[in-house]
Amino acid sequence: MASILFVCLGNICRSPLAEGALRAESARLKLDLIVDSAGTGNWHAGEPPDERAQRTALKHGVDISALRARQVTRADFRRFSHIIALDHENLANLRKLAPPDATAELSLLLDHVPGREGQAVTDPWFGEEAGFEITWAEVSAAARTLAEALRRDR
Ligand code: 4NP
Repeated sequence: MASILFVCLGNICRSPLAEGALRAESARLKLDLIVDSAGTGNWHAGEPPDERAQRTALKHGVDISALRARQVTRADFRRFSHIIALDHENLANLRKLAPPDATAELSLLLDHVPGREGQAVTDPWFGEEAGFEITWAEVSAAARTLAEALRRDR
């Protein structure tokens, strides 16, 4: 069974939105899939997603209020088949953190969206709530292509 871990910096904005979007797609396509998210930083561990992220997801029919932030661990590199970073800095930090026996395949989220390869999902934390709509559009586009690819592979 495929297992996907989304990773951003704080695990309160971008990666919980990606987790919510893929959980929704996975349910829609009836996939057997493990989905989780984590942050490379630990400042927000134990906290629910940012309220702006929660409101944005809910506007699109996805409730992420029960998610709680956690920091990525070395064990994650063996537990998950895919670890997907939201931007280049987090991808670089994941590569540094990966233990020698890591089995997870690392990638950048927007590499999964045709035409957006190599691009980062910008951190909406410091900006206006409207920025979270852009984040939602990006992570839900990635969730759709990922879910379709996983359905083909199963
Ligand atoms: P995220 O956003 O990485 O998308 O969850 C951030 C949230 C908090 C912080 C940075 C980014 N922070 O510096 O506390």
